[in-house]
Amino acid sequence: MSITVRRATATATDAAAFARIMGDPAVYPGLMQLPYTNEALWAARLADNDQPGKPDLVLAAELNGEVVGTAGLHPASPALRRRHASMIGMSVAPAAQRQGVGSALMTALCDYADRWAGVLRLELDVYTDNLTAVRLYQRFGFVIEGTLRGYAMRDGQYVDSYAMARFHPNPPGIPPQA
Ligand SMILES: CC(C)(COP(=O)(O)OP(=O)(O)OC[C@H]1O[C@@H](n2cnc3c(N)ncnc32)[C@H](O)[C@@H]1OP(=O)(O)O)[C@@H](O)C(=O)NCCC(=O)NCCS
Repeated sequence: MSITVRRATATATDAAAFARIMGDPAVYPGLMQLPYTNEALWAARLADNDQPGKPDLVLAAELNGEVVGTAGLHPASPALRRRHASMIGMSVAPAAQRQGVGSALMTALCDYADRWAGVLRLELDVYTDNLTAVRLYQRFGFVIEGTLRGYAMRDGQYVDSYAMARFHPNPPGIPPQA
């Protein structure tokens, strides 16, 4: 079993994979996505992310050569004073879950955020009944900061979310002048 993580690109292959994964009825209810997505929508979103200067990072995870996972790191807000905060999300195709793909994506996101993007605060929202995701996030140092009541509509019900965050474990500084 081999898991590789790479940047997603605006190709038909990635657009089709993103539409398949995030259009799956076992996946999109756990996200902020909607039913009836399609390849054209994802082709447009991936092309937008490919624009030079965009701070967003969108990743694809391959299991044995097939795209089975997606993840994103995005500025948490356009506000100047929130430049230190980014938000993340991820999804894995049902048949590929519980094989380490989500953990590989989170490892890549944290490494990029900590070591290259200088992110001090990583944020995410997760539905309170998504225990697999909550456990995964806790393993990577995220803590529950609060419960957001009736946060989102999901299949006809307003459901609660946890606001979770993880601070850079070892924030870099400027070395003293020799
Ligand atoms: C949440 C999600 C991304 C996790 O992805 P995943 O690929 O299953 O994650 P991992 O495989 O790294 O870890 C999940 C579990 O599998 C276990 N696992 C990992 N590799 C394993 C292996 N080789 N054998 C057995 N178990 C394994 C992990 O220990 C973990 O167990 P736990 O739930 O008891 O803590 C995935 O369930 C998903 O996409 N869900 C739908 C969308 C969603 O809810 N996204 C999150 C929105 S906030």
